[in-house]
Amino acid sequence: MFEAPTIGILGLGHVGLPTALGLADIGWNVIGADDLKSKAQYIAEGNIPFYEPGLADILTRNIKSGRFSVADSVEEAIDASDVIFVCVGTPQNYDGSADLSQIENAGRTIAQNSRRDKLVVEKSTTPVSTSLRIKDTLQRYGQKNVNFEVAVNPEFLREGTGLYDFFNPDRIVIGVESEEAKNTLLQIYLPLIAQIDPSNISNEDIINAAEHDKFVITDVNTAELIKHASNSFLATKISFINVVADICEKSGSDVSKVAKGMGLDPRIGNSFLQAGLGFGGYCLPKDIKAFTKIGEDLGVNMSFFREVDSVNIRRIDQIMRKLRQKLWVLKDKTIAVWGISFKPGTDDIRESPSIALIEKLINENVELHLHDPKAIYEFKKTDLSQYDKIKYFDDPADSVNNADAIIIATDWPEFKSVDYKNIKDSMQYPFILDARNLLDPDELIELGFDYTGVGRYS
Ligand code: UGA
Repeated sequence: MFEAPTIGILGLGHVGLPTALGLADIGWNVIGADDLKSKAQYIAEGNIPFYEPGLADILTRNIKSGRFSVADSVEEAIDASDVIFVCVGTPQNYDGSADLSQIENAGRTIAQNSRRDKLVVEKSTTPVSTSLRIKDTLQRYGQKNVNFEVAVNPEFLREGTGLYDFFNPDRIVIGVESEEAKNTLLQIYLPLIAQIDPSNISNEDIINAAEHDKFVITDVNTAELIKHASNSFLATKISFINVVADICEKSGSDVSKVAKGMGLDPRIGNSFLQAGLGFGGYCLPKDIKAFTKIGEDLGVNMSFFREVDSVNIRRIDQIMRKLRQKLWVLKDKTIAVWGISFKPGTDDIRESPSIALIEKLINENVELHLHDPKAIYEFKKTDLSQYDKIKYFDDPADSVNNADAIIIATDWPEFKSVDYKNIKDSMQYPFILDARNLLDPDELIELGFDYTGVGRYS
């Protein structure tokens, strides 16, 4: 156990930055670094590189207190730290497997720039056994007199509620190979679960912490599997309810009520049973593919998980079918799409189902009216924004002028408070295709809209 470990964070993205600031806020000295120098500099100057509620305030606070700083280089952060959290990206290879080159590179850079013993903590989502490969890398490229420990501490932060999730963890998974590594991670996380001054943590506190039911202490491989299995299970719940939604449509039932009725059983639980356009983002779609691939590589039949992914991909066609059913020929029709981010509370559009839908609409040659409370700026960086029949709107109400349909592609809560009564008459045809089941069908039908949701009132 270190007296007060200095924590290095490599990678200041959606995982690394909230983690760094959370750890600084509970009292640790944290030094962050990112390969992308311009991004590191931008953060060092007190700016946040992506939208995440609360992040700007916590950044300002912790720069001011001096507990969070950004190193000029990755090497500098490594040199200054006792414990290094690796939070770099694990993007997808063409075959669905995880591209671990950034992880390998981080391991090599840590090895080559460490002059004293370090604990290297893998935070990025990685296939089972990756941390053992990191350990080999550290040993191969490190100086002979420097010892490395590896640990796995997966993150369970959701974008949009990342800071809330950091400060209110359901569980803290610690995968370790030694008592020393276990105790250091218990020490680091203890202030999250107990009112305790980080500079005053005793051995007894650590022994007691290990008994706390929030901590799940495992070997490193098990910890990696907990993360992949968790995200794959969440994806499975969503695909499950989306198939149930299809049955509801065919049988005249209501998937929202089916989900409610199921979810009240604590063995099932009511979260992640929201039918709609399917799951997106940088985690669930990628993780289910990587989990499938690693299982297959290990000789396990993963057809179940392949189907979870396929069900999800088919959601977009399902919505396009509904649109065509109502509007017949789509060419030159004006379609207002509300929501571009993969979920509310973020400007992240990576793997957003809305983007896949927009692509299909562009292929149909429609007039596109786009609105999103936060993500237009990110969308404008994509090739799709080159399409010449797109208009952008700050106010959703303005986007519906002459529109033949509104598609609600992301369940931003602000779409509930649009004055639907007022906008109806400005539409060419008042059709709402609510791909997220966000709105109250009865209210809209009462106002004279032609409303279609998912798994209800089709
Ligand atoms: C997910 C996990 O929820 C986090 O626990 C995890 O830490 C994170 O991945 C990660 O691995 O880093 P996130 O990607 O932020 O978090 O997004 P989710 O809240 O899981 O939502 C994923 C997608 O599922 C969104 O597109 C959302 O609209 C969709 N969704 C979610 C549904 O379609 N139905 C639901 O009932 C719930």
